[in-house]
Amino acid sequence: MHDETIAIHAGYEADGTRAVAVPIYMTVANDFIDAEHANSIMDLAIPGFHYNRINNPTNDVLEKRLAALEDGTAALVVASGMAAVSYAILTVATAGSNFVVAPQLYGATYTYFAHVLSTLGIEARFAPDDQAQSIGALIDDRTCCVFLESIGNPAGNVVDIEAVGDVAHRSGVPLIVDNTVATPLMLKPLHHGADVVVHSLTKFIGGHGTTLGGAIIDGGSFPWAENAERFPMFNQPEIAFHDVVFARDFPERPFVVRARSIQLRNTGATLSPFNAFQLLQGLETLAIRLDRHEANARDVAAYLANDPRVEWVSFAGFPDNPYYSLVQKYLKGRVPSIITFGVSGGYQAGITFFDSVQLFKRLLNLGDAKSLVIHPASTTHRQLSEGELLAAGIRPETIRLSIGLEHIDDLIDDLDQALAKATA
Ligand SMILES: Cc1ncc(COP(=O)(O)O)c(C=O)c1O
Repeated sequence: MHDETIAIHAGYEADGTRAVAVPIYMTVANDFIDAEHANSIMDLAIPGFHYNRINNPTNDVLEKRLAALEDGTAALVVASGMAAVSYAILTVATAGSNFVVAPQLYGATYTYFAHVLSTLGIEARFAPDDQAQSIGALIDDRTCCVFLESIGNPAGNVVDIEAVGDVAHRSGVPLIVDNTVATPLMLKPLHHGADVVVHSLTKFIGGHGTTLGGAIIDGGSFPWAENAERFPMFNQPEIAFHDVVFARDFPERPFVVRARSIQLRNTGATLSPFNAFQLLQGLETLAIRLDRHEANARDVAAYLANDPRVEWVSFAGFPDNPYYSLVQKYLKGRVPSIITFGVSGGYQAGITFFDSVQLFKRLLNLGDAKSLVIHPASTTHRQLSEGELLAAGIRPETIRLSIGLEHIDDLIDDLDQALAKATA
């Protein structure tokens, strides 16, 4: 079936009530039939639910739907995108290991990698740019994975996933891709050599700025068993979970089973079933929302590019965008509704523009039905040094817009009056 259909139907079969909408199973635990049933479920020998920190029937539908959309073997949903990012890394990293990162990252991901994981003895190695060669040069025998955002937030870079995947795989290392900005409707990283995908579901998938959520999707094809020395966590009996050997016992979905049974089970960033329900509603309209997001974004980008008060515009839909050929290849010519641009006048003009919008909402999010604006240098990325900012693709005057679903004329009127104030 096609993505539009999968996003509405996959993973759900009505129970005896024949409810058409996925029910919200707001329960902490599920009744075992008997001791044998309890043990089989807890050992993961049969599918089923027991304690809802670990799994839940509503969340299970969302997991199956996301796995189907990304064409993976299984998914795990968690309480936020950051929970998904951190669980993904901690599923494969141990103290003493390193991982290599393309530098254009969401601010909290950057901070977590650079300043939090380092305190656990896990080194994030930031490549100078997102090129496969630069990333490959940093891989060594302690490297446990490569991590990148398919479309960097807020930099808007589009990574050549196949090239990076090749470099990682030649060194026996998996590639983890944060596919939040693209969504699986524009790009499926697993089709291009990624091994694991993570998402903040909070953005386009939820789509209405109401619900936090995150997901990890297992591609199921990375050969963990071929390198037991580099990946003992997949190849040795796991003392924290019934001596399971993840690569041997769950060969189709070892990453997600390990993330669930080690990270989620023990640290508990569980997605509320109510949030899962809302994220399922978001998925149902994702395809049509993306069309309108894109049409509005193309019009706003064209308006900004023709305005002398704007110094530069970075938009994946422009043929002069350095990533244009990668946009054609990976996004099939479609573009996310994220635009970055520079107001004439530098850092201060950026702040004045930000302070002056009236319809656009000033907030830390993207992918909402509402149009949003942020000035990263003074907000999301304010903790970064000037060098770190530039490496993350952010200039002092950079404004990031997430274009929503409003009428285009109203959006342009608001930008016009804010530009007038910023450049007065
Ligand atoms: C690319 C990307 N990854 C991860 C996250 C973190 O997601 P959450 O806010 O749901 O924790 C974000 C949030 O903006 C993001 O843009």
